[in-house]
Amino acid sequence: MRHQKQSQEENLTEMVEFVLLGFCDVPHLQWLLFGLFLAIYVIILLGNGTILLITKVDSTLQTPMYFFLGNFSFLEICYVSLTLPRMLANLGTQRRTISLVACATQMCCVLTLGATECFLLAVMACDRYLAICNPLHYPLIMNHKVCIQLVAGSWLSGVPVQIGQTFWIFSLPFCGSNKINHFFCDIRPLLRLACGETFMNEVMVYGAAVLLVSVPFLLILISYSKIISTVLKLPSATSRTKAFSTCSSHLTVVMLFFGSAIITYLRSNNSHSSGTDKVLSLFYTIVTPMFNPLIYSLRNKDVIRALRRLVCK
Ligand SMILES: *[C@@H]1O[C@H](CO)[C@@H](O)[C@H](O)[C@H]1NC(C)=O
Repeated sequence: MRHQKQSQEENLTEMVEFVLLGFCDVPHLQWLLFGLFLAIYVIILLGNGTILLITKVDSTLQTPMYFFLGNFSFLEICYVSLTLPRMLANLGTQRRTISLVACATQMCCVLTLGATECFLLAVMACDRYLAICNPLHYPLIMNHKVCIQLVAGSWLSGVPVQIGQTFWIFSLPFCGSNKINHFFCDIRPLLRLACGETFMNEVMVYGAAVLLVSVPFLLILISYSKIISTVLKLPSATSRTKAFSTCSSHLTVVMLFFGSAIITYLRSNNSHSSGTDKVLSLFYTIVTPMFNPLIYSLRNKDVIRALRRLVCK
């Protein structure tokens, strides 16, 4: 009995690093995955970097919408840079260990920027709602100060919740396996490894997900339904079609991002396998940041024109 207790304590003190298993269940695909994710990372950096650049330098794109879009692209670059480089290093070197501190930092940052992404998407939807449904008051409401406040609020509002959440999870005892069956330190895979009482953590994950994911999602759905009902009343058929195509492409990305995040965080811990978890989280960490610049900008004529001007200069 005494011996058992002692070895448990040893285990507790020994746990200074985790192993991120990543995609090691498909050993023959390591280099293929490395190439694929490297290509995706380059596409994300180039696509979002281009948007960030033209929204800063082009004089015709100095409106609230492009201010939000530029900041959103900047956010996407930060967000994927928290997970993808480490994942590429794991695939390339096959060294998978991550220290406890690095794991906690990664989790806290990914969660915080994930919340920022939810809020910024909601801000962008509300901005479009005001511009389309309330064009007379729009310039008064969306002045420069409000834009900055909205963006700063989006970046900061997730911080306290996510720091608290990370701190709480990492104060749990981890005494069994240290192998995280995931490609980054996310809440679900870590809660699986914890051997203390995790019920209150589960409650907190739910609470945070409702507050930081579902509320912005509802705001977006309400904004777009108002936009669609306004657009339906437009007299000309071509402007109706144009507005519809913009709205539907925005809604597709929003659904992908929020859908995968909501399924991941708003469900009980044991109802999915780790494999499903990995595929789902690929959507909100990598796939949507890749498609966002395409959908928000490259379908937009003003952005295309600004891009031409930039290239011709
Ligand atoms: C986006 O907004 C945040 C918060 O206000 C700010 O720190 C950051 O520099 C902005 N980034 C760009 C590229 O505008």
